[in-house]
Amino acid sequence: MKRVLPGFRDFYPDSCAIRNHLFQNFRRVTAAFGFEEFDGPILEPLDLFVEKSGEEIVSQLFNFSDRGGRAVALRPELTPTLARMVAARAATLKRPIRWCNVGEHFRYERPQKGRLRSFWQMNADLLGEGDVTADAEIIALLVSVFRQIGLGADDFVVRISDRRLWKDFLEKFGLPGEQVPSILGIIDKLGRDTLQESKKKLEELCPSRGSDLFAAVNDLRQCRTLEDIQNAIGSQNSSRLGDWERLSQLLDDLRLTPFVQIDLGIVRGLAYYSGFVFEAFERSGQSRALAGGGRYDDLLEKLHKTSLPACGFAIGDVTLGLLLEEKNLIPIYNSAPHVFVIFSEETQKMALSLCQDLRARGISLRYDLKRESSFSRQLKEAGRSGAVFALFVGPDEVVSGKFTLKNLASGDTRVLTFGELLSTLG
Ligand code: HAM
Repeated sequence: MKRVLPGFRDFYPDSCAIRNHLFQNFRRVTAAFGFEEFDGPILEPLDLFVEKSGEEIVSQLFNFSDRGGRAVALRPELTPTLARMVAARAATLKRPIRWCNVGEHFRYERPQKGRLRSFWQMNADLLGEGDVTADAEIIALLVSVFRQIGLGADDFVVRISDRRLWKDFLEKFGLPGEQVPSILGIIDKLGRDTLQESKKKLEELCPSRGSDLFAAVNDLRQCRTLEDIQNAIGSQNSSRLGDWERLSQLLDDLRLTPFVQIDLGIVRGLAYYSGFVFEAFERSGQSRALAGGGRYDDLLEKLHKTSLPACGFAIGDVTLGLLLEEKNLIPIYNSAPHVFVIFSEETQKMALSLCQDLRARGISLRYDLKRESSFSRQLKEAGRSGAVFALFVGPDEVVSGKFTLKNLASGDTRVLTFGELLSTLG
C-alpha cells in the first residue's frame, strides 16, 4: 500500500472536522476584530524567502526548479507574500490594513510531535500602525482565538519579548550590527541547545568576550517583569521602557494580564522582526509553540522600498490540535442527516422532488440509494444513519398531499402539510 509522505497527513472526515472547527473559530474572531481574509500563491519564487525569512527557514525549504528553470519554493510562511501584496497596493489600501488568512505551509523539518512538513497556519497581520496600540490589538486577537476555542488562562500563556531591546543591548555591548542576527539566532536556540553549546557558539562569534557576553545575555534572558527590564538596561533605553509600560497598560485595560507574561528569553527565529515579539505556549511549557509573531517594521521597506510599520502572528494547527485533544475540547463531530426520507418506487417522483425542495432550504437529508429496499429496511437504515426524523412518502401521502414525520428517538409521529413540515424541520 502506498503511504503518505513523512510529515504530511491524510485528513479523514473526523480530522477535517477538527481542522474546520479551528478555522471556523479563527474566522469568527478575526471578523469580530474587523480583519479581512486574503490569500497568495502556495508556490513562490525561492528568493522571496531566501532574502527575508532567515537562515533557519531557508534550510527547511521545499524548493526545486520548475520546468521553465525558475527557482521556486513551497511557502514555509506567509509574511513575505503578504509584504509583497501590500507593498504592491500600498498607495491605495485603506490603513490600518487588517488582513488574515488560513492556509497550508510547508517546511522540510524532521517530523516529530507538534512538527510536520505540511501544516496549516492562521495568520493575522495589522499594517500601517507603528504605535504599541497595534501590538496590543494583535496580542488581544491571538488570546481571543484561544479563548474562543475553549482555552483559559490555566491552559496557555503568551510570552512577550522585544527584539529592539535585544538589538540595542547587543550593540551597546559593543557588537557590530551585522553580528546581531547570528547572536539572536544563538539566543533563540538557548532552550534547545545545552548551555555549553551556546557558550561555545558565542565564544566563536566574539572570541575575546564570549564569557562576558554569555553572562550578560543570560541576565537579560531571565527578565520576567518591567522592574527586571529596568534593572537590566538601566537608564540607557528609557524610551523603550516607556513603550513597555504602555504595552503593559494596554494589555491590562484589554483584560489580558492573566494570559501574558514578559519573557525576554523569546527572540524568535525569523530574521525580519524588529520590535515586540511573542510566542504562545501551553501553560506547562511542555509542548512546542502554539503561535508566534511580532513587529516587523522594516520588511516592506527592504523588499519593496515601501515604508510601512507592521505586526502580526501565525497560529499552527498541529500543536493547537494536540492541546485541544488533551483538554477534551474537540466537539463531537456529527455527520448524521437531519431527516431520512422513506419512499417506494411508485412514489419516487414526488419523494425526490420533495427532497430537492427540502435540500434547497438547507435541510440535510438522505435516503436509501438501494431502491428495492422495503419500508422496514429503509426505516432500519434511517436509525443507523443517526437522523433525527424519518419522513414517509408513501401512496397515502401522495393522495393526501400530507407527510408522515416520525421522531426516531421518541417515536412521536405527526401528519403534516408541506408548510408545517418546513416549519418543523427548518
Ligand atoms: P513561526 O513561529 O515560524 O512564525 O510559525 C508560527 C506557528 O506555526 C508556530 O508557532 C507553529 O505553531 C506553527 N509551525 C511552524 N512550523 C511548523 C511545523 N513544521 N509543523 C507544525 N507547525 C508549525 C511565522 O511563520 C511568522 N510568519 C508568523 C507571523 C505572521 N509573524 C508576523 N506575521
